[in-house]
Amino acid sequence: MSNPPIPVITIDGPTASGKGTVAQRVAQHLGFHYLDSGALYRLTALSVMRRDISLDDEHALAKAAEHLHCHFNGAHIFLANEDVSNDIRVETVGNLASKIAAIPTVRQALYGLQLSFRQHPGLVADGRDMGTVIFPHAGLKVFLTASVEARALRRYKQLIDKGFSANMEDLSKDLTERDARDSNRSSAPLKAAEAAYLLDTSAMTADQAVAQVLEWYAAAKALHAQSE
Ligand code: CDP
Repeated sequence: MSNPPIPVITIDGPTASGKGTVAQRVAQHLGFHYLDSGALYRLTALSVMRRDISLDDEHALAKAAEHLHCHFNGAHIFLANEDVSNDIRVETVGNLASKIAAIPTVRQALYGLQLSFRQHPGLVADGRDMGTVIFPHAGLKVFLTASVEARALRRYKQLIDKGFSANMEDLSKDLTERDARDSNRSSAPLKAAEAAYLLDTSAMTADQAVAQVLEWYAAAKALHAQSE
């Protein structure tokens, strides 16, 4: 008898839509592992910045992604052995991440690493292409959205909380540019997977969004059990 597959919940959405917070809390509630796939693109961007690799040198960019020496420990993210949890959150790194994420060989280089996060008893993965490309057979796919205003305000609070300076006008402009780049690229563009549940979190608290995802997951599990 074959082992049952390891369950996966994917949560995709645009920048600052709240997917990270929601995905982490859902993972915590279910006792599942958590993959912050955006962090892998941000880590690659940080490594590229530090090594002064040019955006035109596609080969070197893909190599940087392929040889990313990173590990995750709770909320802490390490590049080589340095804790870069805060360094990867600044907007310059986010913007560079979005530029290099448009390069197919970079995406390919991070593919296997992302799959390796699927471990017992389950995984919640957040990003842009979790439900469309990386885990297309996930048992539950969610696409989170929120208005630009709500997202800019969330990002503003996040940055201020971390002690960074931020400005709402610049943030809204950055968000809009990043959304356009992520949605219009040819490789794994940001879009809802066909079977994804859409959740607009503009007027929702994180707790409400988490409760909704857990409800969908319970329903999907019950349906799956019935059909076995
Ligand atoms: O925090 P925010 O939502 O702005 O971004 P993130 O999830 O940390 O991801 C940073 C960048 O990586 C995004 O702007 C995307 O361009 C890229 N990314 C991607 O292309 N595919 C993913 N699965 C996750 C992130």
